[in-house]
Amino acid sequence: MPAEPPPASKDSRPSRLLGIETSCDETAAAVVEDGRRIVSNVVASQVGVHAKYGGVFPEAASRMHIEAILPVVQEALAQAHVGLEGIDAIAVTRGPGLAGSLVVGLNCAKGLALARGLPLIGINHLEAHLYSIWLVEDEPEPAFPMMGLIVSGGHTELVLMRDHLIYQRLGGTLDDAAGEAFDKVARLLGLAYPGGPAIQQEARQGNPQAYRFPRAWLEGTWDFSFSGLKTAVLREVRALQPEVRAGIEPPAAGLPTSDLAASFQAAVVEVLVEKTVAAAEAFEARTILMAGGVSANEALRERLAARSPVVTRVPPLSLCTDNAAMTAAAGHVRFLAGQRDALDIDVLPSWPLAS
Ligand code: KG4
Ligand code: ZN
Repeated sequence: MPAEPPPASKDSRPSRLLGIETSCDETAAAVVEDGRRIVSNVVASQVGVHAKYGGVFPEAASRMHIEAILPVVQEALAQAHVGLEGIDAIAVTRGPGLAGSLVVGLNCAKGLALARGLPLIGINHLEAHLYSIWLVEDEPEPAFPMMGLIVSGGHTELVLMRDHLIYQRLGGTLDDAAGEAFDKVARLLGLAYPGGPAIQQEARQGNPQAYRFPRAWLEGTWDFSFSGLKTAVLREVRALQPEVRAGIEPPAAGLPTSDLAASFQAAVVEVLVEKTVAAAEAFEARTILMAGGVSANEALRERLAARSPVVTRVPPLSLCTDNAAMTAAAGHVRFLAGQRDALDIDVLPSWPLAS
């Protein structure tokens, strides 16, 4: 794939892509012009349904995508005041993600592409998270090379982006993703799902130094590990309330939830920020880019901005979590680079980000 920076569209009107995203538990569709201007961005969240399981329940996710996908696509087109005849290509998430969820979005995109003779462009969801930065219209285009940290419920990836579509994966989590750790620890503490916002909320009243939880530095690698940290929080909860079966039933009143949440959050934030900053220095990155659901975390944003030696770019909260505008933004660059996928492409549930 040649890596040309995206020039302005040659046509008199901007290029207009329909993005479709169903990799996890959000059914999303969006219309984006020239890869930068969001015309519509519709997200149907299933979070209420998965809350009772404390995590995403794949079969339920797939069923709900099937119900939501066509109305969501129709709504995205309606809000953009455009029909499919005004769309130049369809960009759809092909992976990584839940197979039964991905297949719903991909089949919908294939059907529309076939019916209207539109180009189909399969997109890596991790790449889409990186391209969410380009949707911040009033900021200049970020400078390459960039150090990208993608932190979400399913991923914790450190990626060097040398140019458009040119990636080098440096490392990632060896066990739990950062967001998964937030979700699991929230459950241990009896907080709501998804755990990230709930822990952030509790942490505001807590002392981040109250408990010294372990930091897995994994020296000599750009990898991460959060399962030991989660176990350390579990051990602390059990030490405080031996009679309570932590994670199975809510902790009893009196647990120092705010201090535990703040101390846990501080451990995650410190490792994510220090490793990303070290990688940016080692690879002489000119920009640090952070994306994915966990990048909504205020402590993480603040510490990254304070510690980074270079410009940091983090999307607004609405673009941190899964959406299809970012899929269309990545699709725009691939569209200009000439990517056209056949209608028989399949989903790629485990798809590492590579050039
Ligand atoms: O990117 P995303 O919407 O979906 C995946 O691709 O996984 O990320 C969802 C994850 C969840 O684990 C959620 O707890 C976490 O992002 N999250 C946060 C915050 N908001 C969402 N984690 C920490 N702090 C937050 N404020
Ligand atoms: Zn995501």
